[in-house]
Amino acid sequence: MWKNFPLFPEQASTLAGKVDALYFAFLGISTFFGLLVAGLVIYFAIRFRRRSPEEIGRPEKAGMWMEVTWSVIPLIILLGMFAWGAKVFVEAFRPPGDAVEYFVTAKQWMWKFQHPQGNREINDFHVPLGQPIRLTMTSEDVIHSFFVPAFRVKADVLPGRYTTVWFEATKTGTFHIFCAEYCGAEHSMMRGSIIIMEPADYEEWLSGGQPVATLAKTGEQVFAEKTCNTCHKSTAGALGPSLDGVFGTVREFDDGTTTIADENYLRESILEPRAHLVKGFQALMPTFQGQVDEEELVLLIGYIKSLSGAADAAPQGQLP
Ligand code: CUA
Repeated sequence: MWKNFPLFPEQASTLAGKVDALYFAFLGISTFFGLLVAGLVIYFAIRFRRRSPEEIGRPEKAGMWMEVTWSVIPLIILLGMFAWGAKVFVEAFRPPGDAVEYFVTAKQWMWKFQHPQGNREINDFHVPLGQPIRLTMTSEDVIHSFFVPAFRVKADVLPGRYTTVWFEATKTGTFHIFCAEYCGAEHSMMRGSIIIMEPADYEEWLSGGQPVATLAKTGEQVFAEKTCNTCHKSTAGALGPSLDGVFGTVREFDDGTTTIADENYLRESILEPRAHLVKGFQALMPTFQGQVDEEELVLLIGYIKSLSGAADAAPQGQLP
């Protein structure tokens, strides 16, 4: 019904309809009660106006039932609105298990995209139709926000950590990407295009340029260049823990605490290895802060994930 409403961007993702339904329901409920209250104020002001200078108002006693009614009904409506909104929110930030992971790196003032197949793009982002796509995003400088109005998807992109969001496109075409967080002089110029293609066209587009190594393959090269592989190997007596199958598992530390090895954990382990030292290993690893840039981090993490056969798998239950 609202699909072609001129004030609204097209709906081009599985989420768009749900967000719009929520939005219009809230708008409808708010408008209804806003008009009701305003109407009653005006009606009562006229109906109970002072008719002569001598008239003295006499207090009305509202019955108990009336108090209960106007408290309980709004409460039920508001709880319903909350539950509905929470459901859509969780859906928007919990990628389905079969979502394919792409990496987004923001910087003043551009968007960089890394495909799992190895292709890289700046400001243009080609993706296949009908495939859930999970974005793992970070920033090289300040806070940005990844916003695709046609998908009703918006998520902050922060320096120093990863945030995720996902979408599944429902129509082919080119849609705007905006930065939705003021990030400096050229914030308004920090735009891009997301190009949704039929899966076959996308495959063709991928192989159209020079043949590229996959993200995991390039990551393996970085892993060797930074000599990570001298310590992190699966042979006995290795100085660092083997990284085979590490992604998504529970890691136990010297102080007895544990965490799930997700992207943010891997990131921390590379940049600040001593922050969470895996039980049974010594603090031998130097920090790689300043030695690897965001794009190399993405490659390393992509490689480590591929060792778990999990290059495409999303850890579940991760909310921003
Ligand atoms: Cu980036 Cu505003």
